Parts: sequence; structure tokens; C-alpha cells
Amino acid sequence: MSTHLVPEDVAGWRRDWEAMMRHYQPGRDALLTAGLDAVQALTGRPPQRVLDVGGGPGTTAEAVLARWPDAQVTVLDVDPVLLALADAALPGRVHTVSADLGSPGWTALAGGPFDLVLAIMTAHYLPERRLRDWYAEARTVLRPHGLLLLADPVADDQPAARPAEAPQQRRDSAGDPWTDWWRQLVGHPVLEPLLRRRAALLAGLTSAEFVAPVRWHRQAASRAGFGPAVTLRRDGGHALLALPASGDGR
Ligand SMILES: C[S@@+](CC[C@H](N)C(=O)[O-])C[C@H]1O[C@@H](n2cnc3c(N)ncnc32)[C@H](O)[C@@H]1O
Repeated sequence: MSTHLVPEDVAGWRRDWEAMMRHYQPGRDALLTAGLDAVQALTGRPPQRVLDVGGGPGTTAEAVLARWPDAQVTVLDVDPVLLALADAALPGRVHTVSADLGSPGWTALAGGPFDLVLAIMTAHYLPERRLRDWYAEARTVLRPHGLLLLADPVADDQPAARPAEAPQQRRDSAGDPWTDWWRQLVGHPVLEPLLRRRAALLAGLTSAEFVAPVRWHRQAASRAGFGPAVTLRRDGGHALLALPASGDGR
């Protein structure tokens, strides 16, 4: 019986993860490229310390390391299975942190300060009031003039002329790419205990599906001490926002 994760299996699961995420996030690759391109333009230097919140199996962290090989990258997530895949794929190259963004304690566990915080397809897991507080917490883990890149589904700023698309569902329902991705891990001797731990945590892992207009994010970030937000990309019902931390250490 296998007692470790086989690198080829891990690579395959992470490849499949990206394919699955592209289904949920239109223009995902171009969006990440645009975000990373903007970092140096907006902050004036390559990031030395990077935090990916809700970083999953570390595929975004790997793209960050491909761009800035000397960066110290932390992947923070609540999901033990995804963190194990990040660890297995990038041993010694990323620092993984198990923490729940649903309460303020995550900031102490994350460490910091960071030059760059990424939140890719993660913010909508948090309910509205929690996300508002989370912005203030994210500000505290950034150094002055650091940058938060947030990519998430957004609602139209204007009242919709047509009904908004149904928010993506992350709850298990047969036949959707999310469920199919998770199903392939079932029964794996190393992952099974982690899958059981994940199942026990599931209430904390269920997405709140909070989808707000860009205006809401701008206001929440501004109240939290960020400078003016820049919308770097809009693609379908998704946006990529660059949120510079103000320089006063607030
Ligand atoms: C849709 S996935 C996106 C993962 C990754 N950012 C990407 O784009 O590939 C959402 C991630 O947020 C994590 N997440 C959800 N709720 C969380 C919470 N309360 N605390 C920490 N991580 C959370 C999930 O475990 C998952 O890894």
C-alpha cells in the first residue's frame, strides 16, 4: 500500500485542478498573467514575500515562483487535502499554513508583512460581513505600499438588464467538474485520512457564494485602509482588482 504521494499523481491532480478551475473562472490564465504583470508596475519592485490566501493545491503559488524564483511564498488554506498537494508539489519552495479565513486568527498564522497578497476565487466563500472585516485583516498583513490582488466573481455595478448568472455552486452535486475532481482522490491511502478531516470541516469549507459589485469591493477596501482600487480585468462575471495598501501602515 502506498504511504506517500507519487509525484506523477500529484502533478496530474494539479493539472486537472487548473482545467477544472478554468471552467469556473473564464480567462483564468490571462487574468493571472495580467495580475502578475501589474505587480511590478504598481509596486515598483519584485515581491519578496507573497501570501496566497485560499491558495488550494499551490498552482498559483507555482506561477508566482516561475515569475519570481527568489520570492518567499506562503500558501494559506483551510483544506488539509489541498495543502498536502501544495506541500507535495512544491516541497521546500512554499510554506503552507493551515488557517481559516472565517475568523481573524488567520493573520497571526500567516505571518507577514507581505509585499503581495493574492486572493484568487476565494473571497466569495466568505459571507458579506466577514469579507468586509477580512479586507481590514488583509491590510494588516501587507507592508505599506504592498498590493492585494483579488480575482473573484462580481455582480454588475448597474442594476442588471438581464437576470444575473446563477452563482457558481461549490456544494457537491453529481457530474459537475468540482465534484468530479474531488471524486478522483477518494480511496487514496494517503489522502483518505485528509479527506475524512476535510469532511469534518465541510461546513467551514462551503462557499457563502457572496458575489458583490466591484463598487462594493472598492468601498470595503477603502474603509479597510487600501488606496484606490484598479480593475485590471473584467471577463464575463469575473473581475481582477489590484488594491494597493496605503503607505501609512494603517
Ligand atoms: C475555488 S478554490 C480556489 C483555489 C485557488 N485560489 C485557485 O484559484 O486555484 C477556493 C479556495 O479557498 C479555500 N477556502 C475556502 N474557504 C476558506 C476559509 N474559510 N479559510 C481558508 N481557505 C478557504 C478553499 O479550500 C479553496 O482552496
